[in-house]
Amino acid sequence: MASVTTPAARIPLIAGNWKLNLDHLQAIAFVQKLAWSLKDASVDFDGIDVAVFPPFTDIRSVQTLVGADKLPIQYGGQDVSQHDSGAYTGEISGAFLAALDCRYVLVGHSERRTLHGETDEIVGAKAAAAVKHGLVPVICVGETADDLEKHGPSAVPVAQLRTILAALPAGSDIVVAYEPVWAIGSGQAATPDQAQQVAAPLRAVIAEALGDDVAAATRILYGGSVKSGNIAGFLREADIDGALVGGASLDIDEFSSIVRFQKHVGV
Ligand code: PGA
Repeated sequence: MASVTTPAARIPLIAGNWKLNLDHLQAIAFVQKLAWSLKDASVDFDGIDVAVFPPFTDIRSVQTLVGADKLPIQYGGQDVSQHDSGAYTGEISGAFLAALDCRYVLVGHSERRTLHGETDEIVGAKAAAAVKHGLVPVICVGETADDLEKHGPSAVPVAQLRTILAALPAGSDIVVAYEPVWAIGSGQAATPDQAQQVAAPLRAVIAEALGDDVAAATRILYGGSVKSGNIAGFLREADIDGALVGGASLDIDEFSSIVRFQKHVGV
């Protein structure tokens, strides 16, 4: 399928999803060391965005460190409430994340969908809440192994994204993460070609829902068992603009090497 891309306009984003790992003290040490590692490697931050997604209780500490040391590391929450305030025990509003200078927030991660029953409608409402509060939602979509067998590679993620984007105003600033559920934490990443085969129709859905300019500017990430050894292949694809990294984002050397994918052989 032809895509509406202008790749030069999209700065790659390497995003680390920490999940339920690292408390706020560990987060401070980790982000500090990550920043040193990237500095030692002379990473050019005009050419790449690096973001971490710590647990909520870490975010204030990360904000303080990033602000005080002016670290070139962005951050966001792993989830957001669809509500602004009120009787929603345990929820965190987009306004609270924005007040901590979060740039992004993950919505619709497959673990939220599976463990917390989040539907595409709920994910759409969360994405809309993020946009309303000036956050960039990182909208996660992806098929299970069963979906893949029954419906082929792109039908399920395309349908998920279509429903979610229907909740957003035209021109919304978003990131999309294509994460096949079968690839998450399995050590069995998709091939770059498989990822591209889904990313191209996802970009077409963005164009339909939010316009060609948004589609051309939106970063589509691949996620699912990304490592330093396979990142370069994904970033070579026309419609893949970065990665959402889980397990490997908790290892500083490995994550730092993923960020430096341009230095890897053959890129
Ligand atoms: P993984 O997780 O890199 O450990 O497969 C990816 C994710 O869940 O975002």
